[in-house]
Amino acid sequence: MKNLNLLHDVKITGVEKKQRVEVEQMLIPEIERIKSAVGTGYETPYASINLPSDVRLIKDIKRIIAEKKEKHKPTMLIVIGIGGSNFGTIAIHQALNGLFYNEQSPDIKLYFVDSVDSDYVQTVYQFAQQELDAGRNVLVNVVSKSGTTTETVVNFELFYELLRKKRPDNYQELIVATTDEGSKLWRLAIEEGFTSFHVPKKVGGRYSVFSAVGLFPLAFIGIDIDKLLSGAGAMVDLCTQHKNPAATSAATIFAQYQKGRTIHDSFFFSKQLAGVGGWYRQLVGEGLGKEKNLAGEVVNVGITPTVSIGTNDLHSVTQLYLAGPHDKFTTFITVQKGVDVRVPTLPQFEGFVANVQGMAFDDLRSAIVGGMYRAYEQKKRPFMGIEFQELSAEALGAFLQMKMLEVMFLGFLFDINPFNQPQVELYKAGTKEILLARRS
Ligand code: PA5
Repeated sequence: MKNLNLLHDVKITGVEKKQRVEVEQMLIPEIERIKSAVGTGYETPYASINLPSDVRLIKDIKRIIAEKKEKHKPTMLIVIGIGGSNFGTIAIHQALNGLFYNEQSPDIKLYFVDSVDSDYVQTVYQFAQQELDAGRNVLVNVVSKSGTTTETVVNFELFYELLRKKRPDNYQELIVATTDEGSKLWRLAIEEGFTSFHVPKKVGGRYSVFSAVGLFPLAFIGIDIDKLLSGAGAMVDLCTQHKNPAATSAATIFAQYQKGRTIHDSFFFSKQLAGVGGWYRQLVGEGLGKEKNLAGEVVNVGITPTVSIGTNDLHSVTQLYLAGPHDKFTTFITVQKGVDVRVPTLPQFEGFVANVQGMAFDDLRSAIVGGMYRAYEQKKRPFMGIEFQELSAEALGAFLQMKMLEVMFLGFLFDINPFNQPQVELYKAGTKEILLARRS
């Protein structure tokens, strides 16, 4: 795969090849089922794999963006959503735009409003208010598949009220709703005349990044969604072959799980990939943490996904990972090439750290990663690795798609449904009961 060196290219240690290959063989019927779902639209549980080739959706998104930009010239975009409704967008935005996007004076500033957090939400509210008071426009994209998630609804209500107050004549045109057809939010959008995109029924939140959920805000701030989707589409093609990287990854993780390594650490050697870590954590947590199997028996399975960021976490959790319990398996995700920054060659620093003067930061990072691999091998800690040649939209699209397929394969191996999240619904229902009791 262009721009992404996948598992078969790199060393996988600590897993007996034979065992992994056996698990890969078990996946063949599931690969065939997924293959037969390609190009069939959104009716099967694997619906999300057809998002990268939805030409009509991409055209609609681009058209709406062009209209909104031309008519309202928004200088700020606020994305209101939580969990699967914003993790993917944050992941791609951070990976491609870096961590200082708003400080770099972009044409359109971007804020995410998710949690119930008065301090945070008040700050974004003030930013939006200042923008509107200065005569500029703010576009609000509310994203909720169900349309009734507490955090999203209350945050949206706040910004909806602000827009109504500041733009009484056309506030509706400054709101875009992304939700399930028929939800309460969908009905409000129709009544009020907001632009809306629907999320296909069988595309769950954590698999929805390549639907309007992620594509609308990302394209709005200028991410090349064609490249993103071309990477994702190429990965769907690759992973519908019997031998494929998502299957290898799933088989490796599953084989490790069977040996008692129930924690899977994704160790990203790039700060910009922390958001991808957050997205993957949710995908695995909600996708595989299940009480019952497909036959309804209690199995209580799941992989505990942890995320580490290098090189920082070498000074944090690595001691534990190299010395603590043998309950972890690691995937290292590295980036070969960033921008060209070099260590100066100042005489004052000679001898502080041997052999680094004049060196490119990327080369130093790769030496550190190499040292890390050696330490893991020495301490018999199993790991595999994936390398981005550079952080491009195409490579990122491919990576996210590969991980979604990996979790589908793991769902099959665990004999559970990787598309539902019944226990998350429990907390939502519980919150609603408490709110009702407080009212009465
Ligand atoms: O992946 C999921 O399905 C969940 O994380 C949801 O995305 C999250 O609970 C938010 O739900 P909704 O999009 O309905 O507001």
